Amino acid sequence: MKDILQELEERRADARLGGGQSRIDAQHAKGKLTARERIELLLDEGSFEEYDMFVTHRCTDFGMEESKPRGDGVVTGWGTINGRMVYVFSQDFTVLGGSVSETHAAKICKIMDMAVQNGAPVIGINDSGGARIQEGVSSLAAYGEVFKRNILASGVVPQISLIMGPCAGGAVYSPAMTDFIFMVKDSSYMFVTGPDVVKTVTNEVVTAEELGGASTHTKKSSVADGAFENDVEALAEVRRLVDFLPLNNREKPPVRPFFDDPARIEHSLDTLVPDNPNMPYDMKELILKVADEGDFYEIQEEYARNIITGFIRLEGQSVGVVANQPMVLAGCLDIDSSRKAARFVRFCDAFEIPILTLVDVPGFLPGTTQEYNGVIKHGAKLLFAYGEATVPKVTLITRKAYGGAYVVMASKHLQGDINYAWPTSEIAVMGAKGATEILYRSELKDADKIAGRVKDYEDRFANPFVAAERGFIDEVIQPHSTRRRVARAFAALRGKKLTNPWKKHDNIPL
Ligand code: HXC
Repeated sequence: MKDILQELEERRADARLGGGQSRIDAQHAKGKLTARERIELLLDEGSFEEYDMFVTHRCTDFGMEESKPRGDGVVTGWGTINGRMVYVFSQDFTVLGGSVSETHAAKICKIMDMAVQNGAPVIGINDSGGARIQEGVSSLAAYGEVFKRNILASGVVPQISLIMGPCAGGAVYSPAMTDFIFMVKDSSYMFVTGPDVVKTVTNEVVTAEELGGASTHTKKSSVADGAFENDVEALAEVRRLVDFLPLNNREKPPVRPFFDDPARIEHSLDTLVPDNPNMPYDMKELILKVADEGDFYEIQEEYARNIITGFIRLEGQSVGVVANQPMVLAGCLDIDSSRKAARFVRFCDAFEIPILTLVDVPGFLPGTTQEYNGVIKHGAKLLFAYGEATVPKVTLITRKAYGGAYVVMASKHLQGDINYAWPTSEIAVMGAKGATEILYRSELKDADKIAGRVKDYEDRFANPFVAAERGFIDEVIQPHSTRRRVARAFAALRGKKLTNPWKKHDNIPL
Protein backbone atom coordinates (compact mmCIF):
# COMPACT_ATOMS: atom_id res chain seq x y z
CA MET A 1 0.00 0.00 0.00
CA LYS A 2 2.78 2.32 1.00
CA ASP A 3 4.49 1.75 -2.35
CA ILE A 4 1.34 2.64 -4.25
CA LEU A 5 0.92 5.87 -2.30
CA GLN A 6 4.56 6.64 -2.92
CA GLU A 7 4.14 5.97 -6.62
CA LEU A 8 1.16 8.34 -6.82
CA GLU A 9 3.20 11.08 -5.19
CA GLU A 10 6.08 10.47 -7.59
CA ARG A 11 3.78 10.58 -10.60
CA ARG A 12 2.23 13.80 -9.34
CA ALA A 13 5.63 15.37 -8.72
CA ASP A 14 6.69 14.43 -12.24
CA ALA A 15 3.53 15.94 -13.72
CA ARG A 16 4.00 19.11 -11.69
CA LEU A 17 7.47 19.56 -13.10
CA GLY A 18 6.03 19.97 -16.62
CA GLY A 19 8.82 20.25 -19.16
CA GLY A 20 11.55 20.13 -16.50
CA GLN A 21 13.52 22.56 -14.37
CA SER A 22 15.61 24.03 -17.19
CA ARG A 23 12.51 24.98 -19.17
CA ILE A 24 10.89 26.39 -16.03
CA ASP A 25 14.02 28.50 -15.52
CA ALA A 26 13.81 29.67 -19.14
CA GLN A 27 10.17 30.63 -18.59
CA HIS A 28 11.11 32.64 -15.50
CA ALA A 29 14.00 34.26 -17.36
CA LYS A 30 11.43 35.68 -19.82
CA GLY A 31 9.61 37.29 -16.87
CA LYS A 32 6.81 34.74 -17.16
CA LEU A 33 5.33 32.52 -14.48
CA THR A 34 4.66 28.84 -15.08
CA ALA A 35 1.19 27.47 -15.78
CA ARG A 36 0.83 26.25 -12.19
CA GLU A 37 2.18 29.40 -10.60
CA ARG A 38 -0.39 31.36 -12.56
CA ILE A 39 -3.23 29.17 -11.34
CA GLU A 40 -2.00 29.55 -7.76
CA LEU A 41 -2.15 33.34 -8.02
CA LEU A 42 -5.49 33.34 -9.82
CA LEU A 43 -7.37 31.15 -7.39
CA ASP A 44 -7.97 31.28 -3.65
CA GLU A 45 -5.17 29.58 -1.78
CA GLY A 46 -5.50 25.80 -1.71
CA SER A 47 -8.75 25.83 -3.73
CA PHE A 48 -7.46 24.30 -6.97
CA GLU A 49 -8.83 20.85 -7.89
CA GLU A 50 -6.87 19.49 -10.80
CA TYR A 51 -8.16 17.06 -13.42
CA ASP A 52 -6.36 15.01 -16.04
CA MET A 53 -2.90 15.41 -14.58
CA PHE A 54 -1.85 12.07 -16.05
CA VAL A 55 -3.22 12.54 -19.55
CA THR A 56 -0.61 11.96 -22.26
CA HIS A 57 -0.70 12.41 -26.00
CA ARG A 58 -1.25 9.45 -28.31
CA CYS A 59 0.92 10.57 -31.21
CA THR A 60 3.40 8.10 -32.67
CA ASP A 61 4.78 10.21 -35.53
CA PHE A 62 8.12 12.02 -35.54
CA GLY A 63 9.40 9.95 -32.58
CA MET A 64 6.72 11.37 -30.31
CA GLU A 65 6.16 7.95 -28.69
CA GLU A 66 9.56 8.40 -26.99
CA SER A 67 8.33 11.27 -24.85
CA LYS A 68 4.94 11.50 -23.22
CA PRO A 69 4.96 14.31 -20.68
CA ARG A 70 2.19 13.97 -18.08
CA GLY A 71 -0.59 16.50 -18.47
CA ASP A 72 0.27 17.13 -22.13
CA GLY A 73 1.03 20.82 -21.84
CA VAL A 74 -2.07 22.17 -20.14
CA VAL A 75 -3.15 22.27 -16.50
CA THR A 76 -6.94 22.11 -16.03
CA GLY A 77 -9.46 22.05 -13.20
CA TRP A 78 -11.52 24.33 -11.02
CA GLY A 79 -11.09 26.44 -7.92
CA THR A 80 -12.54 29.53 -6.33
CA ILE A 81 -12.06 33.29 -6.57
CA ASN A 82 -13.16 34.92 -3.32
CA GLY A 83 -15.14 31.78 -2.63
CA ARG A 84 -16.92 31.64 -6.01
CA MET A 85 -16.34 28.75 -8.40
CA VAL A 86 -14.46 29.13 -11.70
CA TYR A 87 -13.02 26.62 -14.15
CA VAL A 88 -9.55 27.23 -15.43
CA PHE A 89 -7.09 25.97 -18.01
CA SER A 90 -3.51 27.13 -18.12
CA GLN A 91 -1.25 26.18 -21.01
CA ASP A 92 2.22 25.03 -19.99
CA PHE A 93 4.79 26.47 -22.37
CA THR A 94 7.50 24.26 -20.82
CA VAL A 95 5.84 21.17 -22.34
CA LEU A 96 6.27 21.14 -26.12
CA GLY A 97 5.78 24.90 -26.16
CA GLY A 98 2.24 24.55 -24.78
CA SER A 99 1.27 23.29 -28.22
CA VAL A 100 -2.24 21.95 -28.68
CA SER A 101 -2.62 18.22 -29.36
CA GLU A 102 -5.80 16.17 -29.54
CA THR A 103 -5.52 15.24 -25.85
CA HIS A 104 -4.48 18.76 -24.74
CA ALA A 105 -7.63 20.13 -26.38
CA ALA A 106 -9.76 17.32 -24.93
CA LYS A 107 -8.69 18.43 -21.44
CA ILE A 108 -9.80 21.99 -22.20
CA CYS A 109 -13.09 20.76 -23.67
CA LYS A 110 -13.74 18.64 -20.58
CA ILE A 111 -13.61 21.58 -18.19
CA MET A 112 -15.57 23.79 -20.60
CA ASP A 113 -18.35 21.20 -20.66
CA MET A 114 -18.32 21.04 -16.88
CA ALA A 115 -18.40 24.83 -16.65
CA VAL A 116 -21.51 25.07 -18.83
CA GLN A 117 -23.21 22.19 -17.05
CA ASN A 118 -22.44 23.49 -13.57
CA GLY A 119 -22.79 27.19 -14.36
CA ALA A 120 -19.37 28.67 -13.62
CA PRO A 121 -17.06 30.94 -15.65
CA VAL A 122 -14.13 29.64 -17.71
CA ILE A 123 -10.80 31.40 -17.42
CA GLY A 124 -8.26 30.39 -20.07
CA ILE A 125 -4.58 31.21 -19.69
CA ASN A 126 -2.98 31.10 -23.13
CA ASP A 127 0.74 30.51 -23.62
CA SER A 128 1.19 28.27 -26.61
CA GLY A 129 3.07 27.66 -29.85
CA GLY A 130 -0.27 26.75 -31.47
CA ALA A 131 -1.27 23.53 -33.17
CA ARG A 132 1.06 20.64 -32.23
CA ILE A 133 2.91 20.33 -35.49
CA GLN A 134 3.58 16.58 -35.10
CA GLU A 135 -0.16 15.85 -34.88
CA GLY A 136 -1.13 17.74 -38.01
CA VAL A 137 -4.80 17.75 -38.88
CA SER A 138 -5.82 16.06 -35.61
CA SER A 139 -4.68 19.18 -33.84
CA LEU A 140 -6.78 21.36 -36.14
CA ALA A 141 -9.83 19.23 -35.44
CA ALA A 142 -9.11 19.56 -31.74
CA TYR A 143 -9.05 23.35 -32.03
CA GLY A 144 -12.39 23.14 -33.78
CA GLU A 145 -13.81 21.32 -30.75
CA VAL A 146 -12.62 24.12 -28.47
CA PHE A 147 -14.04 26.78 -30.80
CA LYS A 148 -17.41 25.04 -30.86
CA ARG A 149 -17.53 25.11 -27.06
CA ASN A 150 -16.52 28.79 -26.95
CA ILE A 151 -19.50 29.52 -29.18
CA LEU A 152 -21.99 27.40 -27.28
CA ALA A 153 -20.82 28.73 -23.91
CA SER A 154 -21.09 32.35 -25.08
CA GLY A 155 -23.84 34.07 -23.11
CA VAL A 156 -24.18 31.03 -20.82
CA VAL A 157 -21.11 31.45 -18.60
CA PRO A 158 -18.60 34.32 -18.65
CA GLN A 159 -15.43 33.39 -20.55
CA ILE A 160 -12.23 35.28 -19.83
CA SER A 161 -8.92 34.90 -21.69
CA LEU A 162 -5.50 35.84 -20.44
CA ILE A 163 -2.79 35.99 -23.09
CA MET A 164 0.52 35.38 -21.36
CA GLY A 165 2.83 34.32 -24.19
CA PRO A 166 2.45 33.46 -27.86
CA CYS A 167 -1.03 33.04 -29.32
CA ALA A 168 -0.84 32.85 -33.09
CA GLY A 169 -2.55 31.52 -36.19
CA GLY A 170 -6.04 30.09 -35.93
CA ALA A 171 -5.42 29.66 -32.20
CA VAL A 172 -6.33 33.32 -31.69
CA TYR A 173 -9.93 32.56 -32.51
CA SER A 174 -10.63 30.77 -29.26
CA PRO A 175 -9.85 33.82 -27.08
CA ALA A 176 -11.44 36.03 -29.75
CA MET A 177 -14.80 34.43 -29.02
CA THR A 178 -14.57 34.87 -25.26
CA ASP A 179 -16.03 37.85 -23.40
CA PHE A 180 -12.80 39.50 -22.30
CA ILE A 181 -9.17 39.29 -23.39
CA PHE A 182 -6.36 40.60 -21.19
CA MET A 183 -2.74 40.70 -22.27
CA VAL A 184 0.59 41.11 -20.52
CA LYS A 185 2.80 43.91 -21.84
CA ASP A 186 5.99 42.84 -23.65
CA SER A 187 5.55 39.08 -23.08
CA SER A 188 2.42 38.26 -25.06
CA TYR A 189 1.28 38.62 -28.62
CA MET A 190 -1.63 37.62 -30.82
CA PHE A 191 -1.76 37.56 -34.61
CA VAL A 192 -3.30 35.50 -37.36
CA THR A 193 -0.14 35.55 -39.47
CA GLY A 194 3.26 36.37 -37.98
CA PRO A 195 5.91 38.90 -39.03
CA ASP A 196 7.67 36.50 -41.45
CA VAL A 197 4.54 35.75 -43.44
CA VAL A 198 3.57 39.41 -43.39
CA LYS A 199 6.99 40.29 -44.84
CA THR A 200 6.68 37.67 -47.58
CA VAL A 201 3.15 38.59 -48.60
CA THR A 202 2.97 42.35 -48.14
CA ASN A 203 6.63 43.33 -47.83
CA GLU A 204 5.87 45.07 -44.53
CA VAL A 205 8.62 44.81 -41.91
CA VAL A 206 7.11 44.60 -38.45
CA THR A 207 8.09 43.04 -35.13
CA ALA A 208 5.88 40.56 -33.27
CA GLU A 209 5.28 43.21 -30.60
CA GLU A 210 4.27 45.85 -33.16
CA LEU A 211 2.06 43.41 -35.03
CA GLY A 212 0.25 41.84 -32.11
CA GLY A 213 1.54 43.05 -28.74
CA ALA A 214 -0.58 44.37 -25.90
CA SER A 215 -0.27 47.98 -27.02
CA THR A 216 -1.49 47.18 -30.55
CA HIS A 217 -4.49 45.24 -29.34
CA THR A 218 -5.59 47.64 -26.61
CA LYS A 219 -5.06 50.86 -28.60
CA LYS A 220 -5.42 50.02 -32.31
CA SER A 221 -7.34 46.84 -32.96
CA SER A 222 -9.52 46.65 -29.80
CA VAL A 223 -8.99 42.87 -29.79
CA ALA A 224 -7.89 43.06 -26.13
CA ASP A 225 -9.82 44.65 -23.27
CA GLY A 226 -6.87 45.51 -21.08
CA ALA A 227 -3.09 45.21 -20.75
CA PHE A 228 -1.09 44.71 -17.57
CA GLU A 229 2.54 45.12 -16.59
CA ASN A 230 3.22 41.50 -15.65
CA ASP A 231 1.60 38.13 -14.91
CA VAL A 232 1.00 38.94 -11.24
CA GLU A 233 -0.89 42.14 -11.97
CA ALA A 234 -2.92 40.54 -14.75
CA LEU A 235 -4.04 37.65 -12.54
CA ALA A 236 -4.94 39.97 -9.66
CA GLU A 237 -7.01 42.16 -12.01
CA VAL A 238 -8.91 39.16 -13.39
CA ARG A 239 -9.79 38.22 -9.81
CA ARG A 240 -11.11 41.76 -9.38
CA LEU A 241 -13.20 41.49 -12.57
CA VAL A 242 -14.72 38.14 -11.58
CA ASP A 243 -16.06 39.78 -8.41
CA PHE A 244 -18.33 41.94 -10.61
CA LEU A 245 -19.75 39.08 -12.67
CA PRO A 246 -22.46 36.50 -12.12
CA LEU A 247 -21.31 32.89 -12.42
CA ASN A 248 -23.75 32.19 -15.25
CA ASN A 249 -26.72 33.61 -17.14
CA ARG A 250 -29.31 32.26 -14.70
CA GLU A 251 -27.77 33.92 -11.69
CA LYS A 252 -27.81 37.54 -10.56
CA PRO A 253 -24.44 39.28 -10.22
CA PRO A 254 -22.96 39.01 -6.73
CA VAL A 255 -23.85 41.54 -4.04
CA ARG A 256 -20.74 42.63 -2.14
CA PRO A 257 -20.65 44.35 1.23
CA PHE A 258 -20.50 48.15 0.82
CA PHE A 259 -19.44 50.89 3.17
CA ASP A 260 -20.50 53.93 1.20
CA ASP A 261 -23.71 55.87 1.93
CA PRO A 262 -26.05 55.38 -1.06
CA ALA A 263 -27.46 58.86 -0.33
CA ARG A 264 -24.02 60.50 -0.33
CA ILE A 265 -24.31 64.11 -1.57
CA GLU A 266 -21.60 65.39 -3.93
CA HIS A 267 -21.78 69.18 -4.14
CA SER A 268 -18.84 69.28 -6.53
CA LEU A 269 -21.09 67.75 -9.21
CA ASP A 270 -23.17 70.93 -9.29
CA THR A 271 -20.25 72.63 -11.05
CA LEU A 272 -18.93 69.70 -13.10
CA VAL A 273 -20.51 70.94 -16.33
CA PRO A 274 -18.80 74.19 -17.41
CA ASP A 275 -20.88 77.28 -18.29
CA ASN A 276 -19.43 77.26 -21.79
CA PRO A 277 -21.13 74.39 -23.66
CA ASN A 278 -18.04 73.92 -25.81
CA MET A 279 -15.75 73.30 -22.84
CA PRO A 280 -14.96 69.68 -22.02
CA TYR A 281 -15.02 68.11 -18.56
CA ASP A 282 -14.04 64.69 -17.34
CA MET A 283 -16.98 62.28 -17.27
CA LYS A 284 -14.88 59.85 -15.23
CA GLU A 285 -15.24 62.22 -12.30
CA LEU A 286 -18.99 61.63 -12.34
CA ILE A 287 -18.56 57.85 -12.59
CA LEU A 288 -16.17 57.78 -9.63
CA LYS A 289 -18.44 59.99 -7.54
CA VAL A 290 -21.50 57.86 -8.22
CA ALA A 291 -19.79 54.47 -7.62
CA ASP A 292 -19.61 52.71 -4.26
CA GLU A 293 -16.24 53.61 -2.74
CA GLY A 294 -15.19 55.22 -6.05
CA ASP A 295 -14.34 51.76 -7.41
CA PHE A 296 -14.48 51.55 -11.22
CA TYR A 297 -13.26 48.60 -13.33
CA GLU A 298 -12.71 50.01 -16.78
CA ILE A 299 -12.93 47.88 -19.93
CA GLN A 300 -11.04 48.96 -23.08
CA GLU A 301 -9.66 52.05 -21.35
CA GLU A 302 -7.16 52.77 -24.14
CA TYR A 303 -9.51 52.33 -27.11
CA ALA A 304 -12.16 54.73 -28.46
CA ARG A 305 -11.72 56.95 -25.44
CA ASN A 306 -14.68 59.08 -26.52
CA ILE A 307 -16.81 56.46 -24.79
CA ILE A 308 -16.15 54.93 -21.38
CA THR A 309 -17.22 51.39 -20.47
CA GLY A 310 -16.77 49.43 -17.25
CA PHE A 311 -18.23 48.16 -14.02
CA ILE A 312 -19.13 49.87 -10.76
CA ARG A 313 -21.25 48.84 -7.79
CA LEU A 314 -24.26 50.64 -6.35
CA GLU A 315 -25.38 49.45 -2.95
CA GLY A 316 -23.02 46.52 -3.49
CA GLN A 317 -24.67 45.47 -6.79
CA SER A 318 -22.77 45.32 -10.08
CA VAL A 319 -23.74 47.91 -12.66
CA GLY A 320 -22.29 48.31 -16.15
CA VAL A 321 -21.54 51.93 -17.06
CA VAL A 322 -21.50 53.39 -20.56
CA ALA A 323 -20.61 57.09 -20.70
CA ASN A 324 -19.75 59.60 -23.40
CA GLN A 325 -16.44 61.33 -22.64
CA PRO A 326 -16.53 65.05 -23.63
CA MET A 327 -12.72 65.19 -23.23
CA VAL A 328 -12.20 63.10 -26.39
CA LEU A 329 -13.74 64.08 -29.77
CA ALA A 330 -16.20 66.15 -27.71
CA GLY A 331 -17.89 62.86 -26.77
CA CYS A 332 -19.10 62.20 -30.34
CA LEU A 333 -20.18 58.70 -31.27
CA ASP A 334 -18.17 57.14 -34.09
CA ILE A 335 -17.48 53.68 -35.48
CA ASP A 336 -15.01 52.61 -32.80
CA SER A 337 -16.98 53.90 -29.82
CA SER A 338 -20.22 52.40 -31.14
CA ARG A 339 -18.63 48.97 -31.53
CA LYS A 340 -16.93 49.16 -28.16
CA ALA A 341 -20.07 50.18 -26.29
CA ALA A 342 -22.37 47.81 -28.20
CA ARG A 343 -20.32 44.79 -27.23
CA PHE A 344 -20.24 45.93 -23.63
CA VAL A 345 -24.02 46.50 -23.51
CA ARG A 346 -24.61 43.03 -24.96
CA PHE A 347 -22.33 41.45 -22.37
CA CYS A 348 -24.22 43.18 -19.56
CA ASP A 349 -27.58 42.18 -20.99
CA ALA A 350 -26.51 38.55 -21.49
CA PHE A 351 -25.45 38.32 -17.85
CA GLU A 352 -28.21 40.34 -16.17
CA ILE A 353 -26.00 43.26 -15.22
CA PRO A 354 -28.03 46.51 -15.08
CA ILE A 355 -26.77 49.39 -17.23
CA LEU A 356 -26.19 53.01 -16.26
CA THR A 357 -25.76 55.33 -19.25
CA LEU A 358 -24.29 58.81 -18.81
CA VAL A 359 -24.95 61.00 -21.82
CA ASP A 360 -23.16 64.05 -23.19
CA VAL A 361 -23.19 63.50 -26.93
CA PRO A 362 -23.20 66.18 -29.61
CA GLY A 363 -23.96 63.61 -32.33
CA PHE A 364 -22.15 61.24 -34.66
CA LEU A 365 -18.68 62.20 -35.88
CA PRO A 366 -18.92 63.60 -39.43
CA GLY A 367 -16.50 62.73 -42.24
CA THR A 368 -15.77 60.55 -45.24
CA THR A 369 -13.66 58.17 -43.15
CA GLN A 370 -16.65 57.47 -40.96
CA GLU A 371 -19.12 57.09 -43.82
CA TYR A 372 -16.83 55.01 -46.06
CA ASN A 373 -16.09 52.66 -43.19
CA GLY A 374 -19.73 52.13 -42.42
CA VAL A 375 -20.68 54.31 -39.47
CA ILE A 376 -24.28 53.62 -40.42
CA LYS A 377 -23.92 49.94 -39.72
CA HIS A 378 -21.58 50.31 -36.73
CA GLY A 379 -23.68 53.01 -35.11
CA ALA A 380 -26.69 50.74 -35.57
CA LYS A 381 -24.91 48.13 -33.43
CA LEU A 382 -25.14 50.34 -30.37
CA LEU A 383 -28.72 51.36 -31.14
CA PHE A 384 -29.67 47.71 -31.56
CA ALA A 385 -27.81 46.58 -28.44
CA TYR A 386 -29.56 49.15 -26.26
CA GLY A 387 -32.94 48.52 -27.83
CA GLU A 388 -32.88 44.76 -27.28
CA ALA A 389 -31.40 44.90 -23.75
CA THR A 390 -33.97 43.88 -21.16
CA VAL A 391 -31.85 44.48 -18.04
CA PRO A 392 -32.66 47.51 -15.86
CA LYS A 393 -31.52 50.63 -17.72
CA VAL A 394 -31.06 53.98 -16.02
CA THR A 395 -29.93 56.94 -18.11
CA LEU A 396 -28.70 60.35 -17.05
CA ILE A 397 -28.17 63.18 -19.52
CA THR A 398 -25.63 65.65 -18.15
CA ARG A 399 -25.42 68.06 -21.06
CA LYS A 400 -25.82 67.47 -24.80
CA ALA A 401 -28.14 64.83 -26.21
CA TYR A 402 -28.54 65.74 -29.84
CA GLY A 403 -30.23 64.08 -32.77
CA GLY A 404 -29.92 60.36 -33.49
CA ALA A 405 -27.23 60.02 -30.86
CA TYR A 406 -29.80 61.08 -28.22
CA VAL A 407 -32.06 58.22 -29.24
CA VAL A 408 -29.16 55.74 -29.38
CA MET A 409 -27.86 56.43 -25.87
CA ALA A 410 -30.42 54.38 -23.92
CA SER A 411 -33.23 56.86 -24.45
CA LYS A 412 -36.78 56.24 -23.23
CA HIS A 413 -37.64 55.23 -26.78
CA LEU A 414 -35.30 52.21 -26.62
CA GLN A 415 -36.90 50.69 -23.53
CA GLY A 416 -34.96 52.94 -21.13
CA ASP A 417 -36.52 52.40 -17.71
CA ILE A 418 -35.67 55.56 -15.80
CA ASN A 419 -34.32 58.57 -17.68
CA TYR A 420 -32.93 61.47 -15.72
CA ALA A 421 -31.45 64.76 -16.86
CA TRP A 422 -29.43 67.40 -15.10
CA PRO A 423 -30.75 71.00 -15.45
CA THR A 424 -27.72 71.66 -17.71
CA SER A 425 -29.07 69.24 -20.34
CA GLU A 426 -29.78 70.23 -23.90
CA ILE A 427 -32.01 67.68 -25.56
CA ALA A 428 -32.63 68.70 -29.15
CA VAL A 429 -32.30 67.74 -32.78
CA MET A 430 -29.02 69.63 -32.97
CA GLY A 431 -27.08 72.53 -31.40
CA ALA A 432 -28.62 76.01 -31.53
CA LYS A 433 -26.12 77.41 -34.04
CA GLY A 434 -26.55 74.57 -36.54
CA ALA A 435 -30.31 74.66 -36.18
CA THR A 436 -30.66 78.42 -36.78
CA GLU A 437 -28.31 78.31 -39.76
CA ILE A 438 -30.68 75.85 -41.42
CA LEU A 439 -33.94 77.44 -40.32
CA TYR A 440 -32.90 81.03 -41.10
CA ARG A 441 -30.53 80.61 -44.01
CA SER A 442 -31.79 83.81 -45.64
CA GLU A 443 -30.76 85.83 -42.57
CA LEU A 444 -27.21 84.47 -42.37
CA LYS A 445 -25.61 87.71 -43.55
CA ASP A 446 -27.19 89.64 -40.69
CA ALA A 447 -25.04 88.68 -37.69
CA ASP A 448 -27.24 90.45 -35.13
CA LYS A 449 -30.40 88.84 -36.39
CA ILE A 450 -28.82 85.40 -36.39
CA ALA A 451 -27.46 85.93 -32.87
CA GLY A 452 -31.01 86.72 -31.78
CA ARG A 453 -32.31 83.59 -33.49
CA VAL A 454 -29.63 81.48 -31.78
CA LYS A 455 -30.60 82.97 -28.42
CA ASP A 456 -34.30 82.23 -29.07
CA TYR A 457 -33.50 78.65 -30.02
CA GLU A 458 -31.34 78.18 -26.93
CA ASP A 459 -34.03 79.59 -24.66
CA ARG A 460 -36.62 77.31 -26.19
CA PHE A 461 -34.72 74.06 -26.76
CA ALA A 462 -31.33 74.05 -24.97
CA ASN A 463 -32.78 72.58 -21.80
CA PRO A 464 -34.25 69.31 -20.52
CA PHE A 465 -37.76 70.63 -20.04
CA VAL A 466 -39.17 70.18 -23.54
CA ALA A 467 -38.31 66.46 -23.32
CA ALA A 468 -39.54 66.35 -19.72
CA GLU A 469 -42.88 67.87 -20.78
CA ARG A 470 -43.36 64.90 -23.04
CA GLY A 471 -42.31 62.33 -20.44
CA PHE A 472 -39.15 61.38 -22.36
CA ILE A 473 -37.29 62.42 -19.21
CA ASP A 474 -38.79 61.09 -15.99
CA GLU A 475 -37.24 63.73 -13.75
CA VAL A 476 -34.78 66.62 -13.86
CA ILE A 477 -32.45 66.02 -10.93
CA GLN A 478 -29.92 68.03 -8.96
CA PRO A 479 -26.37 66.98 -9.87
CA HIS A 480 -25.33 66.74 -6.22
CA SER A 481 -27.97 64.07 -5.53
CA THR A 482 -27.07 61.89 -8.53
CA ARG A 483 -25.74 58.94 -6.53
CA ARG A 484 -28.86 58.77 -4.41
CA ARG A 485 -31.24 59.12 -7.35
CA VAL A 486 -29.45 56.57 -9.50
CA ALA A 487 -29.06 54.06 -6.65
CA ARG A 488 -32.78 54.37 -5.82
CA ALA A 489 -33.68 53.98 -9.50
CA PHE A 490 -31.79 50.68 -9.73
CA ALA A 491 -33.26 49.57 -6.40
CA ALA A 492 -36.75 50.20 -7.82
CA LEU A 493 -35.88 48.09 -10.86
CA ARG A 494 -34.64 45.01 -9.02
CA GLY A 495 -37.83 43.12 -9.77
CA LYS A 496 -37.94 44.13 -13.44
CA LYS A 497 -39.16 41.46 -15.83
CA LEU A 498 -39.21 42.15 -19.54
CA THR A 499 -39.13 39.62 -22.34
CA ASN A 500 -38.70 40.44 -26.01
CA PRO A 501 -40.74 38.56 -28.64
CA TRP A 502 -39.61 34.97 -29.28
CA LYS A 503 -37.12 34.51 -32.09
CA LYS A 504 -34.37 32.05 -32.97
CA HIS A 505 -31.89 34.87 -32.66
CA ASP A 506 -31.79 38.46 -33.80
CA ASN A 507 -29.85 39.78 -36.76
CA ILE A 508 -27.80 42.57 -35.21
CA PRO A 509 -25.95 44.54 -37.93
CA LEU A 510 -22.44 43.00 -37.89
C1 HXC B 1 5.16 21.37 -31.38
C2 HXC B 1 6.28 23.15 -30.54
C3 HXC B 1 5.40 24.04 -31.19
C4 HXC B 1 4.36 23.48 -31.97
C5 HXC B 1 6.84 25.21 -30.11
N1 HXC B 1 7.17 23.92 -29.89
N2 HXC B 1 5.78 25.31 -30.91
N3 HXC B 1 6.15 21.84 -30.63
N4 HXC B 1 4.27 22.14 -32.03
N5 HXC B 1 3.48 24.25 -32.59
C6 HXC B 1 8.24 23.42 -29.06
C7 HXC B 1 9.60 23.70 -29.63
O1 HXC B 1 9.95 22.67 -30.50
C8 HXC B 1 10.46 23.72 -28.39
O2 HXC B 1 10.72 22.38 -27.98
C9 HXC B 1 9.56 24.31 -27.35
O3 HXC B 1 8.23 24.14 -27.85
C10 HXC B 1 9.81 25.77 -27.14
O4 HXC B 1 9.86 26.40 -28.40
P1 HXC B 1 11.04 27.41 -28.80
O5 HXC B 1 10.92 27.62 -30.25
O6 HXC B 1 12.33 26.92 -28.25
O7 HXC B 1 10.61 28.69 -27.97
P2 HXC B 1 10.66 30.19 -28.39
O8 HXC B 1 11.98 30.52 -28.99
O9 HXC B 1 10.21 30.98 -27.21
O10 HXC B 1 9.58 30.37 -29.57
C11 HXC B 1 8.22 30.15 -29.34
C12 HXC B 1 7.44 30.10 -30.68
C13 HXC B 1 8.10 29.11 -31.62
C14 HXC B 1 7.45 31.51 -31.28
C15 HXC B 1 6.01 29.76 -30.33
O11 HXC B 1 8.26 27.86 -30.93
C16 HXC B 1 7.29 28.85 -32.82
O12 HXC B 1 7.31 29.63 -33.77
N6 HXC B 1 6.60 27.69 -32.84
C17 HXC B 1 5.83 27.28 -33.98
C18 HXC B 1 4.56 28.11 -34.07
C19 HXC B 1 3.68 27.62 -35.14
O13 HXC B 1 3.97 27.78 -36.33
N7 HXC B 1 2.63 26.91 -34.73
C20 HXC B 1 1.60 26.45 -35.61
C21 HXC B 1 0.73 27.66 -35.87
S1 HXC B 1 -0.66 27.29 -36.79
P3 HXC B 1 12.02 21.97 -27.14
O14 HXC B 1 11.89 20.49 -27.02
O15 HXC B 1 13.16 22.44 -27.92
O16 HXC B 1 11.87 22.67 -25.82
C22 HXC B 1 -1.80 27.06 -35.65
C23 HXC B 1 -3.05 26.75 -36.26
C24 HXC B 1 -4.16 26.64 -35.28
O17 HXC B 1 -1.62 27.11 -34.50
C25 HXC B 1 -5.37 26.43 -36.12
C26 HXC B 1 -6.62 26.39 -35.34
C27 HXC B 1 -7.79 26.19 -36.25
